[in-house]
This record gives sequence, structure tokens and C-alpha cells, in this order.
Amino acid sequence: MSKVHVLNHPLIQHKLTFIRDVSTGTKEFRELVEEVSMLMAFEITRDLQLQEVTVETPVGPAKGHTLAGKKLGIVPILRAGLGMSDGILSLIPAAKVGHVGLYRDPKTLKPIEYYVKLPSDVEEREFIVIDPMLATGGSAVEALNSLKKRGAKNMKLMCLVAAPEGVAAVQEAHPEVEIYLGALDEKLNEKGYIVPGLGDAGDRLFGTK
Ligand code: PRP
Ligand code: URA
Repeated sequence: MSKVHVLNHPLIQHKLTFIRDVSTGTKEFRELVEEVSMLMAFEITRDLQLQEVTVETPVGPAKGHTLAGKKLGIVPILRAGLGMSDGILSLIPAAKVGHVGLYRDPKTLKPIEYYVKLPSDVEEREFIVIDPMLATGGSAVEALNSLKKRGAKNMKLMCLVAAPEGVAAVQEAHPEVEIYLGALDEKLNEKGYIVPGLGDAGDRLFGTK
């Protein structure tokens, strides 16, 4: 079953609290989502492989380590996932970016796919699928299905806030996918919103309603 990692670093928790606050405006919300995503990416990339190299310092040769050139990809789930991509790319700028466009039908809460574009070498890449919200889990499960159908073999899921229902749905459909969260909240409400959550992530990021 998928492992769940709640990344409760003090800086992540501090910023997430302001993200949740209803009085935080669009500009600050967007900046905070980017910052938290960068901090979460720092934690999620701890297991990247290194290779030993030697460089010349002004004083002499020094053994060091550089990333072993593993091919990484990040896949924001449109639209709200876009708010997380720049923060991650600031740490791993060489990562390729795919996109999966999904929206949740407000009545059925089922995800509807409208766009998919992935790097061509899907089979060889390690992907981080990103979305601020893991609510019923329908969108994340569908996005992971979509990547798998196109050949992806190695995926992680990273979300700011999740409900237990969403975690369970991903664990059931994709037991091999590790889940990284800023917070695991209490429950979903009758409209499928995470409680206490942060509201509608896409609307708060882009100033829509
Ligand atoms: C939100 C959110 C997730 C999804 C989570 O997107 O960004 O993608 O809902 O809900 P689920 O786990 O129940 O599927 P939304 O459908 O509102 O689209 P948007 O990002 O375009 O605003
Ligand atoms: N999508 C959101 O943006 N927020 C929620 O709480 C649930 C789904």
C-alpha cells in the first residue's frame, strides 16, 4: 500500500497556515503556494541518486557529488497544480513538465479529462504529480491512470492538503505510488470540499469564483 508522508517541517506548517487563512489575498496565496511547493520538493527529492565526481578547487582536487542525471518530470494537474510548478522547478530546473487537464464535475464530483501532454520519454522518467488538493481522490487517481496508460512506471503524488477519503482512493487504485502531503485534514463536507482545507484552490490561486 502507498506510503503517506506528511511533511510537517515547521516552515511548511507555518506557510500552510497562512494559505488556509480566508483573509489571505490572491497575490500572497500564490506566493505562499509556490514557497511551500519548493520546501516540499526539497523533502521529496531526498532520495535522488548521486554520483561521485572530482572538481578542482583553487587549492586542489576535491571529491564531491552531483545528481546522477536521473530523468525527472513534474505533472501539474490543471488548473490548480500550476500554482505549485514554479516552486518545484526553482529547485529542479532540468525537470520536464507534463500537463494533465482535469476538472471535477460539481454535481457528480467525478473528474473530466480535457488535456494531456507529457514528455515523449515517459517510460524512463520519474514523475511527481502535483495538485494542491486531494479531496475525493478522483482527480489524482485519474491523472495517475492517464500517465500509466501512456507508459509511466515511476510516480509520486504531492499535494498540499488531503482528506482521508482521497488518500484511501489513491492507495486503493495505485498502491505503489507514494503520497507526500503538507497536511492530512479531517474529512470532506457534503460538497466534496476538504474540512478545514483551504477552500477552492484554483479560485484562490487565480482570483476566479
Ligand atoms: C480541484 C483540485 C483537484 C480536485 C480535487 O480541482 O485542484 O484537482 O479539485 O478534488 P478530487 O480529489 O475530489 O478530485 P478543480 O476540479 O476544482 O479544477 P481547477 O483546478 O481547474 O479549479
Ligand atoms: N478542490 C478544491 O479546490 N478544494 C477542495 O476542498 C476540494 C476540491
